[in-house]
Amino acid sequence: MARICCGPLHTFALLTSVFLILVHKDKNVSFAFSPSAEWQHSTNISYRSVQFRENLSSNVTVSADPRTHTRYVRDQCGIAVESRINCGCDRSLSRADCEARGCCYVPLPQSGLGGPPWCFYPVRYPGYKMGPLLPTEKGQRATLARSAPSYLPRDIPTLQLDLMPETLGRLHLTLKDPASPRYEVPFVTSQSRGHKDIQNPLYDVDFQPDPFGFIVRRKSNGRVLLNTTIGPLLFADQYVQLSTSMASSVISGLGEHYTPITLDLNWTSVSLWNRDMASANLYGSHPFFLVQEGDGQAHGVFLLNSNAMEVFLQPAPALTWVTVGGILDFYIFLGPSPQSVVQQYHEVIGYPMMPPYWSLGFHLCRWGYTSTNITRTVVQLMRQAKIPLDVQWNDLDYADQRRVFTFDLQRFGDLPRMVEEFHQLGMKYVLILDPGISSASPPGSYKPFDDGLKRGVFIKNSTGQILIGKVWPGPTAFPDFTNPTTQDWWTDCIRVFHSKVPVDGLWIDMNEPSNFVQGSVDGCPDSDLEKPPYTPGVIGGQLNAGTLCVSAQQYLSNHYNLHNLYGLTEAIATHRALLKVKSTRPFVLSRSSFPGLGRFSAHWTGDVRSDWEQLRFSIPGVLLFGLYGVPLVGADVCGFGGDTTEELCVRWTQLGAFYPFMRNHNDKPNAPQEPFVFSQQAQDAMRTAITLRYSLLPFLYTLFHHTHSSGSTVARPLFLEFPTDPDCQTIDRQFLWGSSLLISPVLEEGALEVTAYLPPGTWYSLFLMFTNGNLQISTKCYSASYYSKGQYILFPAPLDTINVHVREGSIIPQQVPALTTTASRRNPFTLIVALSVGNWAKGELFWDDGESLDTFEHGNYSYVLFFAEEVQNRENFVKLNGSLDGLVLGEVRVFGVRAPPTSVWANGQKVHDFSYSQDTKVCNKRFILIFKMC
Ligand code: NOJ
Repeated sequence: MARICCGPLHTFALLTSVFLILVHKDKNVSFAFSPSAEWQHSTNISYRSVQFRENLSSNVTVSADPRTHTRYVRDQCGIAVESRINCGCDRSLSRADCEARGCCYVPLPQSGLGGPPWCFYPVRYPGYKMGPLLPTEKGQRATLARSAPSYLPRDIPTLQLDLMPETLGRLHLTLKDPASPRYEVPFVTSQSRGHKDIQNPLYDVDFQPDPFGFIVRRKSNGRVLLNTTIGPLLFADQYVQLSTSMASSVISGLGEHYTPITLDLNWTSVSLWNRDMASANLYGSHPFFLVQEGDGQAHGVFLLNSNAMEVFLQPAPALTWVTVGGILDFYIFLGPSPQSVVQQYHEVIGYPMMPPYWSLGFHLCRWGYTSTNITRTVVQLMRQAKIPLDVQWNDLDYADQRRVFTFDLQRFGDLPRMVEEFHQLGMKYVLILDPGISSASPPGSYKPFDDGLKRGVFIKNSTGQILIGKVWPGPTAFPDFTNPTTQDWWTDCIRVFHSKVPVDGLWIDMNEPSNFVQGSVDGCPDSDLEKPPYTPGVIGGQLNAGTLCVSAQQYLSNHYNLHNLYGLTEAIATHRALLKVKSTRPFVLSRSSFPGLGRFSAHWTGDVRSDWEQLRFSIPGVLLFGLYGVPLVGADVCGFGGDTTEELCVRWTQLGAFYPFMRNHNDKPNAPQEPFVFSQQAQDAMRTAITLRYSLLPFLYTLFHHTHSSGSTVARPLFLEFPTDPDCQTIDRQFLWGSSLLISPVLEEGALEVTAYLPPGTWYSLFLMFTNGNLQISTKCYSASYYSKGQYILFPAPLDTINVHVREGSIIPQQVPALTTTASRRNPFTLIVALSVGNWAKGELFWDDGESLDTFEHGNYSYVLFFAEEVQNRENFVKLNGSLDGLVLGEVRVFGVRAPPTSVWANGQKVHDFSYSQDTKVCNKRFILIFKMC
């Protein structure tokens, strides 16, 4: 590895230097993981059990909706309209029904469905009464008891409250039935570190004993983060409800849905019940949200519950959780920064896996590559077009009669050879697996089913027979991945298949699980599970619509409880199987998800339409999955459903080049959308975007390392990085990679410019640097750098351009791109040094072999820190000898050098091959210096 320095810069007495410090193994990396300062304080958490003179909401006189400034007047039942908590979340109520529940019935003009409720709880609606708080090993416990039953069937009269301060920033609170154990999410998502002696946590908790409610405050400023006294706690066998006020209206989470990055609180609701329905419910459930408090601080709430639920949002701001089972298991994260909220959440659900390096390359797929020859041709055409491609995929076309673990001998007879050929090219191969196992083949002819039957791995219906549904191959049985025997059987199936077809990763689809008949081919029983007293707003109106009977029996519980975990359990089983079979880092792509998925799998956002709206929605979709701990995520580039257009596909490829996971995938009936089918101009634009991605993979990989080792995000909403900038709170048409690359794609048809927000500071155009490698930056309309006061700027964005800006003060490691990552990993590195106004910059590189297991955990990696600073004396430079696993630094580009250097030095020698150019439009007259290292 080279050591680098620049010589004296023209009239400056100071030197601008770039020097490298190499850190092997885990030496000197602790700075990246040091806890924030406020975590150091410590005094005891205070619990106060206080008598409230009045419910807090009754202290409100006239309030104003912060967004619309509409004034709401209080009604006769003493509650401001926007704070009404619906007394009929479970069903709509007539005046008589409402009053029979003891609720207020006050109709409103011009409001109906979707507006404020007419029937709502009065202040201090009767609920549970809390007994004294007693110390436990992990915190404190109290018993709650109802003096009178609620209006719900099978009320649970007594509850146990456990309050567990787990860390300074994390509070864990559960409410469950102490008398008879109820279903709880069976996976240990956190090492429960409850500790009653946590000193000086960031939170205070107050209780209202009767009716029971709790209030969580941020201790530093007394801000009320959650207040559940605004509505009753209801806890019945199949209906659990809890309302809380929110500290602000800027809330992100509760996916998976097509939403902007912040949720609409104007009397909306979201249902969490995994479905194969591209437009609704959607494939995953993430009962987590993050609240931006408005002053740069944030907190988060996670309800660990896998039952079907609906969350009602209202402008107070407040929300109401309603779930049809399980317990209330809340984690509250106090941040205080949005980034630390995300880290605290990931600590509970588990840090994401470290992906194999190749999985960050470009992936190409379509349903409709109907033979090996067609698949090979696609690869050839990509290579002829000189467009990087790391991973070629096949959809269900490969399978014999669509039965997984087989391949069609006529059309895919030489599949093993094809995969070997791809491997020879330095590429990888992934194919699809559906969980539905065909049950209709003659006995003895389809081993996965016969064997599964023998080993008892399939989900059973309520009478103990194997539940048969219908998916692509026709009648199918569904493996129960909560059964340890199923893990062994699944591993065996994958091992046998892999011994014939050496796949590099597996794509697990249809795992909500999706079923083309309702419940089963024999229907579902008429039971309380299938028809609970209340069904959240799911598409089809019943929990078994588009999936299995929820009364079906699994090893750990019934499907009613476990449904939302199906995809996660399959991902865990598939990840473990690949680990056993291949002993390298597994790559799994799962459609369905639940908290914790990111430890095992990547995710794509399912069957998105090829249109501009879906292109736009893909950004918040990807960013939210980062918050959910699934950083390796992307949407189908160019869209899956319907025909794309050339322009849309170019713009989508440009945006997709900055999805952490980039795959172009298309549905069968559509016009083709591989890059090579488009005009030369479009191909050039796509090639440029994908090549730019490849050049940035060392930087992207380093971000994944951080996410894996400390739970941060890769693709990052602006509010995470600039939490005190109010302009960043809701931006979801732009995003960041880490903290230093700002991506501002074109998202409108026909647009040749993009209006993008630049947070305060200097930003350098990376795209321009990349495309104008020779730095002839004379193009009239371009500027190389921008100084922003925190403002929107109109950037040119012709079809070949995606605007990407580097933040001042950062150093971005890049590598000369190639057609595969196998090849690019051998190429020299380059550094982009984006000097700050104060003439410094820093960056880092995590590097390992890209595929071995647990390299970070075992110390089999290198870590490089880069600094650029003004130094007086060249002797102070850190000198480096030798190489870092053969890595070569080929070129350094320094943005923002104020004047032409008189000389440039590297490794103690004068560098002659350097250029220096002036960006004529730049306000602060800065320049770019490039020098070659080899
Ligand atoms: C549904 C998936 O979402 C889609 O990506 C896939 O192409 C089809 N199933 C066929 O396997």
